[in-house]
Amino acid sequence: NICKKEGKERMEQEKRGQFGTNFGFLMAAIGSAIGLGNIWGFPYKMGANGGFIFLIIYLALVSFVGFSVMLGELALGRKYGMGVVGTYRKISEKYTWIGWLGWLSGFLILAFYSVLGGFTIRYCFGFLMEIFSAGAGFGGMDSGAFFGSFTTNAPMSILFHAIFMGATIIIVMGGISGGIEKFTTVAMPALFIMMLIVVIRSVTLEGAFVGLEFMFKPDLEALKEIGLMRVLKTAAGQMFFSLSLGMGCMITYGSYLSKNENLEKNAMIIPIADTCFATLSALAVLPAVGAFMYQGVEGVSFGAGPGLLFVTLHRVFSVGMGGFMGNFFGALFYFLVFIAAVTSSISLLEVCTAYFIDKRVGKGLEPDRKKITLIVGLTIFFLGFPVAMDGLGAGVAGGAMIDIPATLFGMKEVRVAFDCWLDFYDMISEGVFMPLGAMLMSLLIGWKLKTTLIKEEVEATPGYQMRAYNFWDICFKFVVPAVMLLVLLGQLDDFFGLGIF
Ligand code: PHE
Repeated sequence: NICKKEGKERMEQEKRGQFGTNFGFLMAAIGSAIGLGNIWGFPYKMGANGGFIFLIIYLALVSFVGFSVMLGELALGRKYGMGVVGTYRKISEKYTWIGWLGWLSGFLILAFYSVLGGFTIRYCFGFLMEIFSAGAGFGGMDSGAFFGSFTTNAPMSILFHAIFMGATIIIVMGGISGGIEKFTTVAMPALFIMMLIVVIRSVTLEGAFVGLEFMFKPDLEALKEIGLMRVLKTAAGQMFFSLSLGMGCMITYGSYLSKNENLEKNAMIIPIADTCFATLSALAVLPAVGAFMYQGVEGVSFGAGPGLLFVTLHRVFSVGMGGFMGNFFGALFYFLVFIAAVTSSISLLEVCTAYFIDKRVGKGLEPDRKKITLIVGLTIFFLGFPVAMDGLGAGVAGGAMIDIPATLFGMKEVRVAFDCWLDFYDMISEGVFMPLGAMLMSLLIGWKLKTTLIKEEVEATPGYQMRAYNFWDICFKFVVPAVMLLVLLGQLDDFFGLGIF
């Protein structure tokens, strides 16, 4: 009977697919982690939240929280051999809903992520065109004007959102080793090289020190002004999103990993690579911005949000650097951001498709990956429409409808100030479901079940003894839930203006 069960499990694994090599797995997982969060979020959050002190706090969080949640997720995925919903269902029917929180997060994040990914394609394409003839790429418009006209042009936003989603769907359709692994194995090393080139260009610009100072100077004043709790919450939230944790992405990828691979080592390599890349991104973005502030280019500052990635940096390339160099580095930079975004979006889509594939395989059917991926991908594409159509709050369907969530959650007395749909999707997923998911996971595994569950899975690798069990156990049981609670409260505070912090 045991033989029969093992045979069935092996057959199911074969149908679901698997990573061919550990290197391929690492490239896929690191690719998931490295994305818009690193290139866009990290640099300005670091600069605005105490510089070097933020970096130290971030590193501490990665070591105590990031690593342990990463290991927990990878181990759960590999143990149960299922996507996020299936994993929690196998733990117990009672907990299936925790899996659904993760699944829904992936669904919502991808809807806005893809719209932003579409922007990066538009910008890359624009700079390429500019190389051939001035004005061909951005119509001779100023950075701010172009951004405004592009984002409020709904059909254009949707077109590029479609291209981005199309690329994501095609890769995921190829399967785990034939699509995701194949693509990321080439894309990630290329991404790294492109990033190095941009960093070297950026830090050698005249006046780059202004950016380096903004980035690295331990800024106690800012820290005092913002408050340690808030900085901690910002760093923790950023880390979570950046490492693709809390929504079952690493559970899903872990479920495609062979028992022969070392989970503990992988769970260390992924956060280290992601953090190095985040620091590199800051070195690419901030010194370039600082340099042109120093050189007195108008409208260049260490602003935050979409403005930094699409307005300020556009100006850095088009006005600051200018000419062929500017267009060349502009095209290279936005191509790089596009690649980083796709290697993340495929992991988000995989979380969503895996559920349906698992369901079919569980029934003994063929997985039908292509059809499922297409249907799920198209659904998410449509879900992205409001994000692509409200001009990020600037026009068309503006802030008017955004009071709906307040009414829905019965919090009418608390005014919810969303600028746009992107913020709304982001609030539900990154703001609530993800920290909640991670908190529930650590409470469930750490307190209700046993952490030895994870140890056993780590040691399922033949001849391997888990090294950091005690350290991991303490982090997972105590530090993770505490930090997650902090993030959760902080996010709610941000979105609803409760004034807790
Ligand atoms: N980690 C990705 C980024 O930094 C985003 C992401 C979140 C991807 C969750 C997958 C799951 O951009």
